[in-house]
Amino acid sequence: MEYFSFKLFISVLLLLPIASFSAPNSSISQLVCNKNFTNNNNILKINIKNTISSLVANTYNNTYAISSYGIGYNTIYGLFQCRGDASYELCSSCITNATHQIRTSCPYSAESRVWYEFCFLRYDNYKFFGQADSSYTRVWPSELTAQNSEAFNSALGWVLDAATGSAVGKDVKVGKVINEDGTFDKNIYGIAQCTRDLDDSGCSYCLQKALEVMFMDCKNHLGCSLISNCCMFSYDIYDLFLDPESQNPGTAVSSMLSNGYLH
Ligand SMILES: *[C@@H]1O[C@H](CO)[C@@H](O)[C@H](O)[C@H]1NC(C)=O
Ligand SMILES: *[C@@H]1O[C@H](CO)[C@@H](O)[C@H](O)[C@H]1NC(C)=O
Ligand SMILES: *[C@@H]1O[C@H](CO)[C@@H](O)[C@H](O)[C@H]1NC(C)=O
Ligand SMILES: *[C@@H]1O[C@H](CO)[C@@H](O)[C@H](O)[C@H]1NC(C)=O
Repeated sequence: MEYFSFKLFISVLLLLPIASFSAPNSSISQLVCNKNFTNNNNILKINIKNTISSLVANTYNNTYAISSYGIGYNTIYGLFQCRGDASYELCSSCITNATHQIRTSCPYSAESRVWYEFCFLRYDNYKFFGQADSSYTRVWPSELTAQNSEAFNSALGWVLDAATGSAVGKDVKVGKVINEDGTFDKNIYGIAQCTRDLDDSGCSYCLQKALEVMFMDCKNHLGCSLISNCCMFSYDIYDLFLDPESQNPGTAVSSMLSNGYLH
């Protein structure tokens, strides 16, 4: 696998015409509902309900959990993860909202995903655990763009590469960095995070794919957020990190729940 370097592409970027964007400065909110089933499939409905319930129960003292419920092709696999710097309280509130949105908007979906600023909730009748699937990505560039784009993009490249390097290799799969390369006169705060079901190579792959998309859609923008099925990335010149006082201990608990008929 080729290592995608944002910095390398920045040098190419300087030779290219600068693309302009007018995307809104909005916080992350995205919903996907797929695999409609009929109202009569009670087994699937029960398995979805139980998978989500066991995930929600874990927000009490975890910011990540996977769960599954059911037998054979009716099995439902679920995952939730909150942003690495979110407290249990924030995480729990975010997942409660995500659960509400999925229940109201996707009542007959065998596959649903919802992303908010601070959390990601997903279930599927396909066992997606450990898959670095980057087929679905969305980006939110802020409206503000850099005046000195060369200096900014150089510093941004540093931040994105450093955040990626920091996330890969950690159990919690989250990296937070501030630019230190001295090419831009403001701070750039960056956070990269993979879902914790991925191993290091899966996390690295997901973030490299994210960097490729961000290179296209975020360059020159003073803030930008990306979501995908396997990782997220955010940076801004505003301090987007949550108060360290509210941070959880960095213990990675990959709790494979067995509330269902599996195991
Ligand atoms: C799924 O079902 C809902 C409600 O019946 C419908 O609005 C929606 O278009 C369906 N989606 C697909 C992909 O069939
Ligand atoms: C979460 O709480 C449950 C029930 O109180 C306990 O069994 C479990 O060990 C706790 N997990 C962590 C990671 O603290
Ligand atoms: C959840 O929704 C409530 C009501 O809309 C809102 O006040 C709260 O901020 C939301 N929580 C999160 C973490 O987004
Ligand atoms: C949106 O803009 C405001 C101020 O202009 C800033 O504080 C905030 O961080 C921005 N949010 C994003 C996601 O860019």
